[in-house]
Amino acid sequence: MLLEIKNLRKDYQRGKQIFSAVNNVSFTMNKDEFVCIMGKSGSGKTTLLNMIAGLLTPTQGKIMLNNTNLFELDDQQVSAFRNQQIGYIPQGSSLLPNLTALENIRLPFYLTKRQNQQCLSYAQSLLEKAKVSYLQDAYPANMSGGEMRRIAILRSLICQPQIIIADEPTSDLDDESAADIMQLLSDIHHQGTALLIVTHDNDVASYSQKIMKMSAGRLTDK
Ligand SMILES: Nc1ncnc2c1ncn2[C@@H]1O[C@H](COP(=O)(O)OP(=O)(O)O)[C@@H](O)[C@H]1O
Ligand SMILES: [Mg+2]
Repeated sequence: MLLEIKNLRKDYQRGKQIFSAVNNVSFTMNKDEFVCIMGKSGSGKTTLLNMIAGLLTPTQGKIMLNNTNLFELDDQQVSAFRNQQIGYIPQGSSLLPNLTALENIRLPFYLTKRQNQQCLSYAQSLLEKAKVSYLQDAYPANMSGGEMRRIAILRSLICQPQIIIADEPTSDLDDESAADIMQLLSDIHHQGTALLIVTHDNDVASYSQKIMKMSAGRLTDK
């Protein structure tokens, strides 16, 4: 089992009212799976992903990734664990504007103590595989939305994670760019990386093997 989520809950306060943005969610994922979670805006998808990525502490519940309980680690250990095991593609544009595509892709690698030379050739091979070598030295301001998303996906791959987590990877893209992005993510899945994607787009969901539905913080099989 790659991922095991058990009775996960996140409470927030709005005014005097406490509500569960994620409400008692449980599910598991194998290491070769491509899972999609669908749900309307505000249903708790981003909150759920942020907890799985170790960016947000749950109110209650357990997350086991590769037999490690995320919340038994201290801050520094969670960061290192995330860096090595999880490729996270946040919603919207997340590239650093003052870095080129190549530098953005390599950034997560600089945060660890691995050999940089090896990382350079790997980053270049990722650009090549995704057919965007021409973007190597371009800055985000000079890229299209689809190109930026593509670079963010390659950045998530640089540390060769066990799982890629993507938050609405095709939002704000035209149909053609969205299809390109899904093709790239499917290729990554076929090369052996597990994928967990949240979306409200039916076309995106059609690429996955398993679809679950999030509604008012609750997760159900579709
Ligand atoms: N930091 C926060 N404080 C209070 N409420 C929040 C916070 N983050 C998200 N929420 C609320 O939690 C609910 C789920 O949000 P979110 O996980 O972003 O949903 P989705 O990604 O499905 O659109 C929403 O009602 C949102 O307003
Ligand atoms: Mg969201």
